[in-house]
Amino acid sequence: MKKLIKNNVYWLGKIDWELDKFHGDDYIIQHGSSQNSYLIKEEKTVLIDTVWRPHSTEFLDNLESEIDLKDIDFIIANHGEVDHSGALPQLMEKIPNTPIYCTEFGVKSLVGQYHHPEWNFRVVKTGDSVDIGNGKKLIFIEMKMMHWPDSMATYMTGDNILFSNDAFGQHFAVEELFNDKADQCLLWNEAMKYYANILNPFSPLIKKKIEEIRSLNLPIDIIATSHGASWRDNPMQIVDKYYEWSQNYQEDQITIAYDTMWDGTKHLAHRIAQEVAKISPTTKVKVFNISVTDKTEVMTEVFKRTPHKRKLQGNRPRNQMQLEPKS
Ligand SMILES: [Fe+2]
Ligand SMILES: [Fe+2]
Repeated sequence: MKKLIKNNVYWLGKIDWELDKFHGDDYIIQHGSSQNSYLIKEEKTVLIDTVWRPHSTEFLDNLESEIDLKDIDFIIANHGEVDHSGALPQLMEKIPNTPIYCTEFGVKSLVGQYHHPEWNFRVVKTGDSVDIGNGKKLIFIEMKMMHWPDSMATYMTGDNILFSNDAFGQHFAVEELFNDKADQCLLWNEAMKYYANILNPFSPLIKKKIEEIRSLNLPIDIIATSHGASWRDNPMQIVDKYYEWSQNYQEDQITIAYDTMWDGTKHLAHRIAQEVAKISPTTKVKVFNISVTDKTEVMTEVFKRTPHKRKLQGNRPRNQMQLEPKS
């Protein structure tokens, strides 16, 4: 069922408490997730994104219980990946001529997956906008490589909502939808996990994009994500955090990941951990056997690596192992 975001904007998606992996077997999920779709009911009725294909029928049933599908003036596909576009084929069977706003790469993604070049695509670029009545409009912002070439965000004036799609999201089930209602420890861990495992390779581009978003000086009251909690309590805190994470982020932590056949490497890993603790007592040390540990979690810990140039120094004999992380 729909849930209120603000004024005439509603959440209408799938909170999936049972999802345990994502991107095939690539991303391990421990606290559920969600696919967040949004319905705007101003003078124009607008649907932003949909849900993953297995939830299509449930999603369409919910949508049809709220509105007559024929009342949808247009659809915005912020991102073509199947977790957001999965219900489009079923929806477009019912309202085949409805305009779909997306980027040029978005058209390639959607046509490539669903083979419907006849869908009524409206290609948009950063700065393009569309009126939705009541003095409000939607402005499009390309978010290339956050995290796919087609990714974009949509900003709603008047209500000051940034529909950010994958950016700033988490694989985390939050029934109450908002960051101030979520368990803060889990929220931040899941937000970092998402960044470390999905976005980190694109950090230089993300840094530039954050600078671009800041330079637009848009008042932002809510960042409505496509996964997990949306940010309404100090929404810019996650933008600032992304900026920090995008710049060679480091904590004073060393993560040791090992694999072993006969425990030899295991002993070595633990010996390294002991030595680090001796040499640098303030440094956090974590040791994982990668054969048995959630790799998504391990990569989040690796993301918190200790500063590259920092030397762990102490009173050690000459022949003792030297730990000097290389840049
Ligand atoms: Fe995605
Ligand atoms: Fe996604």
